[in-house]
Amino acid sequence: MTPVVTTIAEVRAAVAAARRRGDAIGFVPTMGALHEGHAALVRAARAAGGFVVVSVFVNPTQFGPSEDFAKYPRTLDADRTLCHEAGANLVFAPNAADMYPARSVTFVEVTELDRELCGPRRPGHFRGVCTVVLKLFNVVLPDRAYFGAKDYQQARVVTQMVRDLNVPVEVVVEPTVREADGLAMSSRNRYLSAAERVAAPSIHRALLGVRARAAGERDVAALEAGLRAELEAIPGARLDYAQVVDAETLQPVARVERPVVAAVAVFLGTTRLIDNVVIDT
Ligand code: PAJ
Repeated sequence: MTPVVTTIAEVRAAVAAARRRGDAIGFVPTMGALHEGHAALVRAARAAGGFVVVSVFVNPTQFGPSEDFAKYPRTLDADRTLCHEAGANLVFAPNAADMYPARSVTFVEVTELDRELCGPRRPGHFRGVCTVVLKLFNVVLPDRAYFGAKDYQQARVVTQMVRDLNVPVEVVVEPTVREADGLAMSSRNRYLSAAERVAAPSIHRALLGVRARAAGERDVAALEAGLRAELEAIPGARLDYAQVVDAETLQPVARVERPVVAAVAVFLGTTRLIDNVVIDT
């Protein structure tokens, strides 16, 4: 069974030993409550070869005061089994006091890319993500790190951070893994009631709809209006945002002239789900 270590010293020692054997290091940062979306990242890391580390850490600094940090699912035993089956060599499950010693006052902020989408709705979120990801990179010292396209803005922000700060890690972004009915897999799906679970795949259907319409309609305001109307018609749904923005800069655009991403956040009851599709030109 894949070993679990909890201290920074232990993960550093295991990684150093792997390097001495000539292994490259693949890394999959997670917050646990692992599902097939995470497993796909671990398998991608495994397929690239070398020593594969998965971190499981519910990072307090990326949750807002009214968000679900306290009730975020913690399922380390099951996570370890999934990591084992997907081919991970080590699980790193630090505690918050080791990751954030008292009096930590340094944070990483990627500007511009946090202006739209989740940025304004979750103030401080990407600062928390970038800070913990860079800290984890500095602990694990991976050659490659794997992220999911499901969290499109996060993948863009982390890619940009690595570029801007000359972090010697290759960021690999893997496609979103979905349930058979199209719902993007998420640790938060387990919060959905039966009725909400029935409604949830409509989010992806709405995104496929806007992508299909974009073949003929290039006006972004019209595309967004159609997307919003479709999402607002989902029973029990409350729209947080639905935007079509430049796929690289994540800035608003008036017309689809370069690749764009249609990205949405929808509350079903108290559960906030995000999803996106890239629309190539
Ligand atoms: P978490 O939500 O656990 O996700 C860990 C990784 O799995 C992220 O890169 C995410 O995009 C990816 N992932 C989640 N669901 C996926 C799906 N359905 N298909 C493909 N990939 C999926 O994202 C975080 O944790 C945190 O913000 C973290 C990066 C670990 C920093 O704390």
